[in-house]
Amino acid sequence: MDSLLLELPLVAFIVSLFCFILNRFSRSKQQFSLPPSPPALPVIGHLHLIGDLPHHSMLELSKKYGEFMFLKLGSLNTLVVSSPDAAKIVLKTLDPEFAMKPEHLEAKYASYGGRGIIFAQYGEHWRQARKLCTVQLLSTKRVESAEPNRKLEMGLLLADLWKCADDGAVVNLTNKLSDFAFNVMLKMVTGKSHSSSASSRDEEEQARSIKEGLMEFVREGTGMHIATFFPWLTWVDKQVYKLASVHKRVDKILESEIDRHREKLGKSQPSMQHENFIDVMLMDSDANDAHIKAMTVDMLAASTDTASITSEWAISELLNHPAALAKVQAELDEVIGQERTMQESDIRSLTYLQAVINETLRLHPPVPIYPRENSAQACMISAKWGVPARTRVFINAYAIGRDETLWKEAHRFKPERFLEEKVGIDARGQDFELIPFGAGRRMCPGMQLGHTNVMLAVGSLLHAFNWIIPGADNGTGKVDMQEHFGMTVARAAPLQLLPVPRLPAHALALKPGI
Ligand code: HEM
Ligand SMILES: *[C@@H]1O[C@H](CO)[C@@H](O)[C@H](O)[C@H]1NC(C)=O
Ligand SMILES: *[C@@H]1O[C@H](CO)[C@@H](O)[C@H](O)[C@H]1NC(C)=O
Repeated sequence: MDSLLLELPLVAFIVSLFCFILNRFSRSKQQFSLPPSPPALPVIGHLHLIGDLPHHSMLELSKKYGEFMFLKLGSLNTLVVSSPDAAKIVLKTLDPEFAMKPEHLEAKYASYGGRGIIFAQYGEHWRQARKLCTVQLLSTKRVESAEPNRKLEMGLLLADLWKCADDGAVVNLTNKLSDFAFNVMLKMVTGKSHSSSASSRDEEEQARSIKEGLMEFVREGTGMHIATFFPWLTWVDKQVYKLASVHKRVDKILESEIDRHREKLGKSQPSMQHENFIDVMLMDSDANDAHIKAMTVDMLAASTDTASITSEWAISELLNHPAALAKVQAELDEVIGQERTMQESDIRSLTYLQAVINETLRLHPPVPIYPRENSAQACMISAKWGVPARTRVFINAYAIGRDETLWKEAHRFKPERFLEEKVGIDARGQDFELIPFGAGRRMCPGMQLGHTNVMLAVGSLLHAFNWIIPGADNGTGKVDMQEHFGMTVARAAPLQLLPVPRLPAHALALKPGI
């Protein structure tokens, strides 16, 4: 971190100089050539080459056209980045130049035109927002102090699953896991715990409505619409109307939530401790309501789907690889025993489970391609190639994770690789072979929370239960691994499994009546 800070001014200076000189030249004539591209069609450019799963299409194309590939998607200039070296240039060497986020329709509606952080343009507002959420919400201290709440939520989930097991009921794990991640963040942001018995019907209804709205944004919002590629066609894009109506619904609930906090704050002593993020934001005189709503949406949206999708993929892979599953459960029994459920303090001893999560993030990064944009100036990306101003950059973390030249048997799920030939490689943004959280100044600030959340969910569920794939005797006995593309890439079909207890009832410390 220190060395990075020292380098920054120098890098920024070189980059500006580079771009300044370049701009001088380009006024007369474009002096650089574009990176390789496939043959294009008139008007649509390369859109016809991008299928339902764009991260796959881009991976296949990059095998032929290389680590830097230039695509014309309708009228949109895009640069696809598909190797660790190329990602390092964009996310590290030229980080300040590529720290912008493209203008998304999702940003316009979900995130109040980029007034939060995820879609915020690189600049003073983003800097403040980033500081606020890293210090007040996602710092190690804040994440650790929210541990009792995660414990409570996980306890409720395990009790619920126990009841399902008792009834012999198939569980929609997709739903349970996203509820868990959502409830954890909802409590941190609003102070409300909506799954506890203390919450009213009304509050529960509101929380559900927010969650459904957000899921619609992240799952159905692809960042790739007719309106994105052909701005002059915005009026025919049905998705635009849908996003707008979801936005209206969520906005109303958030407005009343903020009013509730404001009223409460007005009554309380100034010295009182404020434990939730909305209160902290209200006390920050620079933040107006739109900012607070945008930040609230961003935090809930960024944390709910990513973490739960990762947990789902991990459990799915393990069910399809019984030997790895047996190893995970043996490790859980060895570290925790059979007399209690998993605690967060167990995480550091669960080495094999950590390797499983790293392997899952390699094969199934929940955000497989994340967008950046360069600023208003053209920029060189290598000695011979450059890109025009406002080029949308897609970092294909999925392609890097599946590169055969980096990973032996790249398509195989093999957690052992992180304990054998890839020891010490991790996802913290230093090793560009594994960048599911991004890297550089816009790297995910929620990595620690996300990682804790995933470890706790996968570990607890596999320690307390065995999971049966319904209909396995007449089917293939495998979990279907099809993907659905959106802002996040989730399983196409919900993960539906039958739980069978593997711990004695007293280990779950079930309360009577549950
Ligand atoms: C497994 C879990 C997660 C994964 C894989 C993940 C992945 C990512 C990725 C790829 C980015 C874009 C990075 C870039 O452009 O370089 C990002 C940004 C972000 N993530 Fe996460 N994330 C996860 C969990 C979380 C959680 C729990 C939070 C908590 C609120 C969070 C908050 C954010 C925010 C606020 C940004 C935008 C940062 C900025 O633009 O400055 N993420 N995440
Ligand atoms: C399972 O849960 C997901 C997420 O909440 C939902 O979209 C899906 O419709 C549910 N599927 C079934 C079969 O209940
Ligand atoms: C997996 O990744 C985490 C965080 O990125 C890291 O702390 C850990 O050392 C890695 N574990 C293994 C076994 O590779």
